[in-house]
This record gives sequence, C-alpha cells and structure tokens, in this order.
Amino acid sequence: MSLPPEELDSILTLAKQAAVRAGELLLETYGTLEGGGFRRKSNARDLVTETDVASERLLVRFLREAFPGHSIEAEEEVRDEPDDGKPRWFIDPLDGTVNFVQGLPLFCVSLGLYVDGAPMVSVVHAPVLGETFSARLGGGCTLESRTGSRELHVSPKTELSESILATGFPYRREVLRPSNLENFSGFFYGVRGLRRMGSAALDLAYVAAGRLDGFWELYLSPHDVAGGALLIREAGGVVTDSDGGEDWLRGGHIVASGPGIHGAILEGVAGPDPAWSA
Ligand code: IPD
Ligand code: CA
Ligand code: CA
Repeated sequence: MSLPPEELDSILTLAKQAAVRAGELLLETYGTLEGGGFRRKSNARDLVTETDVASERLLVRFLREAFPGHSIEAEEEVRDEPDDGKPRWFIDPLDGTVNFVQGLPLFCVSLGLYVDGAPMVSVVHAPVLGETFSARLGGGCTLESRTGSRELHVSPKTELSESILATGFPYRREVLRPSNLENFSGFFYGVRGLRRMGSAALDLAYVAAGRLDGFWELYLSPHDVAGGALLIREAGGVVTDSDGGEDWLRGGHIVASGPGIHGAILEGVAGPDPAWSA
C-alpha cells in the first residue's frame, strides 16, 4: 500500500514544520552542556540530555495531533504496538547527541514515515547548519538551506579509490562483534578518505547530497536510519543491509551510496558473524 502523492506532499510539509520546531528547541540548549546536563545510558559514550527528551515530546505531540491515525516509534519514550498496520513514524529527536553535548554542530532531527515497512516521507534537519533535507516517495530529494532550495543527487563515482566513505561505531563496541574497526581498517588504504562524523542520519543525508560517496554502519536502530534512507533512494542512490538485502530498517546494518560503488562497499563490509549473537 502507498499513499497518493498529494497526500504525501501535505504530510511532508507538516513533517518539515515539526522538524524545524524541534530544531529550534535543540538550539536553545546547544553550546551550554559541556559542563553537565546529560546522563549516561548504557555507558560513558552513550549519552542522553533533557533536550533529547524534550525534542521527542514536541515531535510526538505534533505528529499525534496532525496524524491521529498514524503510529509512532521514537528513540527515547514512545513505541506504539509494532504491528498495528498503521502508517508509522520513526523519530530520532536528536541524532548526534555526543556532538551536541560537545558543542560540535553535526547533529540533526530525523523523521521517517513508513507504510507496510516502505519509506514514504522523510526529513533530516540540521539546525545549526541551517539545512533541511527532505523527500517523499517518487518526488526526488530536496535540500533547503539559507542559500535557497535545490534538488539533490548522489555521487556518480565508480571507483572506491576516489571515494570518501563515512561510518560510525556502536556505543557498546567492547561487546559487539565485529566492532566495525576491522571494516574501517579494510577500507583504510583503498579509499580517498574515511569520515566518522557522529550522526548516522546526517551521514545518510550527506550521501543523498553527494557530499559523501558512501556510508556503512553496523548495529544501528530503526530511528537512526529511517529518515535518511528515502533521501538516498530519491536522490538516485542505493540502500541495502550489509548482505545487499532489504533488511536495513530493522536489521541494524546498512550500506548506502551512489550506484557506482555500492557493490564495492558491500564487498568490504563484513556484517556480524552469524555464529555470534549480541
Ligand atoms: C548515534 C549516532 C552515531 C552512530 C551511533 C548512533 P544518537 O545516534 O547516529 O553517529 O554511530 O550508532 O547511536 O545516539 O546520537 O542518536
Ligand atoms: Ca541516533
Ligand atoms: Ca538520538
């Protein structure tokens, strides 16, 4: 099942409003937290602030009011029945919390609407950078920024040696196997550059924009990737799981790039050992 394009367009308009409002809320405390104002979740590198929670509450309130027939799966507090069959929003209210706490501007709000597991509408909004990436199924991918609005296309590159790839590392890297350091080392000499920017949703948006040629990461959650995936598809790119399959939303392991290097990235990324379980 899909939704008609006109309905998706009006949903997208409201989703962008929601993301921009949440972004304004993030800016109220950005730059004030270096000395505290955050707590650990699973360990010293897995942080949450009151702003993460406040942003999520704002987004949940907005989306529930605008779309009472939809369900929501958000990072911090809200998870409706998983198999309710309704269009479902995935919310990362602040992706890049460690950057946010540290005063680094690479963080964003990420929203994705899915119907029967397929992406329909998505927004990734980076408030300090003043950039809003958005897409709806079949409508292309757009970047709105302080300098105007433009359509985005993924990188046309075909050679890994000329490519910049980004990745990330799980918070629980001591216990998860592989930690992804092995994959990072494997690409080390074969690419133009490797980046670890600290926000998976923004990484995906940057792949859509062709600023990054490709991205992979293991052990992500649906809310990390739900917003960025459609941006890449609508910008002409490819999104798969680490085996080249379709299980990238709930499977945890994602490879995303322009079509010319996707196969080469897949070859270099080893997903979890099937004999090993988290
Ligand atoms: C994290 C960021 C980071 C990625 C982590 C994510 P959070 O999300 O996207 O880049 O490497 O795996 O958990 O905690 O900042 O929302
Ligand atoms: Ca996240
Ligand atoms: Ca988050």
